[in-house]
Amino acid sequence: MESMIETLPGQYRWAAELAQAEVPAARSALICGMGGSGISGDVAAAVATGPVFVHKDFGLPPWAPSLPESIVVAVSYSGNTEETLSAVESARAAGLPVAAVSSGGRLSQLATDGGWPLIRVPGGLQPRAAFGYLAGAVVRLIEGAGLAHDVGLDEAASITATLLGDGLRGPGRRLADDLAEELAGRIAVIMGSGLTAVAAYRWKTQINENAKSPAFVSLLPEADHNEVEGWTTLGTALRRTVGVVMLRDDSEPESVGARFRPTSRLLGEGATIVGEVWAQGTSRLARLASLAAIGDLVSLRLARIAGVDPVAVDAIQQLKQTLGES
Ligand code: PA5
Repeated sequence: MESMIETLPGQYRWAAELAQAEVPAARSALICGMGGSGISGDVAAAVATGPVFVHKDFGLPPWAPSLPESIVVAVSYSGNTEETLSAVESARAAGLPVAAVSSGGRLSQLATDGGWPLIRVPGGLQPRAAFGYLAGAVVRLIEGAGLAHDVGLDEAASITATLLGDGLRGPGRRLADDLAEELAGRIAVIMGSGLTAVAAYRWKTQINENAKSPAFVSLLPEADHNEVEGWTTLGTALRRTVGVVMLRDDSEPESVGARFRPTSRLLGEGATIVGEVWAQGTSRLARLASLAAIGDLVSLRLARIAGVDPVAVDAIQQLKQTLGES
């Protein structure tokens, strides 16, 4: 997995250099995908300049057919994910145009047969290790539809290259190692808001899949209206078992920024505050990518500490087999 993470800057660069896909102009987009593929929809929605919605379920939301001039973007690394194929089927039944991002499988076949716009990402990786390819390709598709501009893929490539460094020995590694030492043996709660909420979700899923450890996302300002009550009565024993990392961004609204400190004081009554990580870069995509890269490194370090194989995802594969998907 380390060698796959190392390719992230090149993945963003690959997406930056893609010829502009021929996508019909749209007034909104609905991105459908699951897991390591579906998160690229969250990234696209976070950097879009027009309305971009994300759907991680079977079929389509009931309101989808009434979106004016909308496009459905189906993203599945394997091309065989049941929920995503079901979304495509519903989109076709509703007469909505579809574009696809995939490395192969049934989705690529459907796109080729149907003559839909298709970006084929390089195969042979775990979907979550193809984050830059998938997110980059989806972003390029919505750019082609007129729903994003100057997204910052080149900056995402250079910022992650700096943070990861040669052989993953860059400055991000030291920060990630320190955070992982504190998080090890604890249940991670990753706190974010707005743009950093997407990065928080990537941290959670990377810790789940790479380190085989539970992890949860907590969102501000919403957590201040419920979660803060839930932490106050935990005793010291539990406090040791939960580690909170806060993902911050210079451009977060002041009203949100002002909440992190007092919220962390309240959380600190019930959990261990492990630290804050600040986004770097100018474009929204680069800032998101900078936080995601640190999260990837944290998850790898946690996997090493726990002595687990970061690549294997036996539980996911077992479920897919049980459900007849692979
Ligand atoms: O990380 C994983 O392996 C999963 O989260 C998959 O991405 C998810 O099951 C969907 O599969 P795919 O990305 O092939 O559509």
